[in-house]
Amino acid sequence: MKRFVVIGSLATIMLIVAALSIISRSVVGDQEMPFGGKGDVEFANMLWKTMAGYEKWQMKSDVYPGTSPHGKFLRLYYNIVNVDKKPYHVIIKDNFGGEDATLEKVSKSPKKYLAAVTVMLQREAGYDSDNNDWFWVKYKADSTIDKNPMGMALAGRVAKGMDTGCIACHKNAKDNDYFFTNDKTDMSLTPEGLLQEKCTTCHDLDRVNKTRKNKSGWEKIIAKMIKNGAKLNKAEQQTLVDYLSQK
Ligand code: HEC
Ligand code: HEC
Repeated sequence: MKRFVVIGSLATIMLIVAALSIISRSVVGDQEMPFGGKGDVEFANMLWKTMAGYEKWQMKSDVYPGTSPHGKFLRLYYNIVNVDKKPYHVIIKDNFGGEDATLEKVSKSPKKYLAAVTVMLQREAGYDSDNNDWFWVKYKADSTIDKNPMGMALAGRVAKGMDTGCIACHKNAKDNDYFFTNDKTDMSLTPEGLLQEKCTTCHDLDRVNKTRKNKSGWEKIIAKMIKNGAKLNKAEQQTLVDYLSQK
């Protein structure tokens, strides 16, 4: 059951990221360096202030086992924040480490095991049009901005044009969205994900939420929706019938 909750919330975050066009983005002017410049560092420092208390945001995952390079355990957060009075979508990843780190220990005392906070924030159109306009930043656990071996602050279009680094690696995420977490979650089998994906093209979910039926009632409705034009395979139909008849 726990696992289901994690996947559910990751799925929600992912869907929002998929709909990242909600905020209309104005165009920024040219900037000097790809990353680590004065403007990017200032932006990252403002962002840190406005993110304060993100550990309590509603849209977050549980702590889960991580992958290189981000850390043994991870936690994901999503929100819209204002930086310099403008709203932005932001995805935060807490990176946890430490010799004795375990899922229980990290969940219980996250501060103690926090190794870094890596963030992706979608900037104004034109900020980095080659890379979906993502702004990248890596804060150390003490909230200062991390630096690369050349002493450049890891904030901005980090390592743009280089073979390694945030952009080079995240470019490999599926669907060209620079977003990895959604790649490994089997969205097609989570009921919330399915409802969003399959049942919102013709009407919103109000209709679905207002309707109370047993299994055979939902089977009939879904069959009707398929006649209307909804596209679901057998497994997806079953998942939805089970889920909807229990709500
Ligand atoms: C070598 C590859 C690699 C590099 C370099 C890298 N990342 Fe990631 N990043 C990943 C992978 C893989 C995940 C998914 C981890 C997971 O959830 O298991 C991820 C996840 C994230 C996420 C959560 C959103 C998502 O894509 O799932 C953020 C935010 C993030 N990385 C920021 C950064 C920043 C900032 C940098 C540079 C300072 C960076 N990453 C460098 C591979 C990389
Ligand atoms: C291709 C368009 C389309 C898609 C996709 C679609 N619907 Fe519908 N839905 C309709 C139309 C049209 C109506 C109103 C007429 C009707 O009942 O067939 C409707 C009505 C409904 C109703 C109220 C009708 C009743 O009989 O109580 C529910 C509940 C519903 N849809 C659920 C869903 C669910 C769940 C999905 C996803 C599996 C879905 N819909 C996907 C077109 C669609």
